Amino acid sequence: MKNELAKIYANTADAITKAETPEKIEEIRIECLGRKGALTAILRALKDLTAEERKTIGEEANKIRQKIESRLREKKIELERTSRESILKKEWIDVTRPGKQIKKGTLHPITQLLREAESIFASMGFATIEGPEVETEYYNFDALNIPENHPARDMWDTFWLKKLDNSEDRLLLRTHTSPMQIRYMESHNPPIRIIVPGRVYRYEATDASHDIQFYQLEGLMVDKNISIANFKAIIRLFFSRLFEKEITIRLRPSFFPFTEPSFEVDISCIICGQKGCSVCKQSGWLELAGAGMVHPNVFKAAGYNPKEVQGFAFGMGVNRIAMMKYKIPDIRLFHSGDLRFLKQF
Ligand code: PHE
Repeated sequence: MKNELAKIYANTADAITKAETPEKIEEIRIECLGRKGALTAILRALKDLTAEERKTIGEEANKIRQKIESRLREKKIELERTSRESILKKEWIDVTRPGKQIKKGTLHPITQLLREAESIFASMGFATIEGPEVETEYYNFDALNIPENHPARDMWDTFWLKKLDNSEDRLLLRTHTSPMQIRYMESHNPPIRIIVPGRVYRYEATDASHDIQFYQLEGLMVDKNISIANFKAIIRLFFSRLFEKEITIRLRPSFFPFTEPSFEVDISCIICGQKGCSVCKQSGWLELAGAGMVHPNVFKAAGYNPKEVQGFAFGMGVNRIAMMKYKIPDIRLFHSGDLRFLKQF
């Protein structure tokens, strides 16, 4: 029996050494110390031995049981630790690694410019109004003193739309933001100070400085005693603030059917400070807007008495101004959807 004990111990100890998982340790424990285990069988058989044998073999068997139990415990702890380590090794996370960058968009340069323009005009008491891009022939032309067959219409040939009903008015994509002068005056009484930013459309051959769609910013100020001097002061302040430098304004006589007198608005070149450069074509001036005193026929069309009110209106090309401010070389980039362009703003 003694031999048998020695053999059990040797086999079990060997198995423990070779065990690679905590589950294997449990298996070994059951094989040796479980209800049907090898050592258990010996302990059970003790009762059939003589008292003398029972003492020595019994003592020996108990010693071996304790030794096996403690080796099992140690090995189990060791295996559990290494298996934890191997999980950690497998599922290791480098918490210092930079995360995935979330791409943030930016406001379109036109939007940025319009927001700035709106806030400058707001500081001078102008409200921002918007109007429809699909306009009627009446508001886009007739009410603005541009009758059918007037040569000025040729300049503004545009996209006519199919009529959906039997209404008299033909529909078109507006060629300018001026129709909102009429729409606003029809529903409001003077004094008026508004700006109307928005998209306009023209039937045009495109190139670096012409596009079939672009943004305008219309302005209208109506009251009892409004003069060109008021316009000049306001527009000079606006451009000086927008370009963050002192700007000089030059008004050149021009023609628009809905203003009288009419003029083109030039600002001193922001690039060269009037020394002459390629942007201003050596002239020192940049043409950025059309303007004039509101024509009496426009007041009449809106239901005002032209003897009682006066006012000025202007319309500026927002894209051109944005091109100046942000140094953008081609007007078509604005709606190119090109990320390399958009990411710069
Ligand atoms: N509507 C004109 C254009 O599109 C600009 C303008 C607006 C001129 C208001 C005078 C007054 O060119």
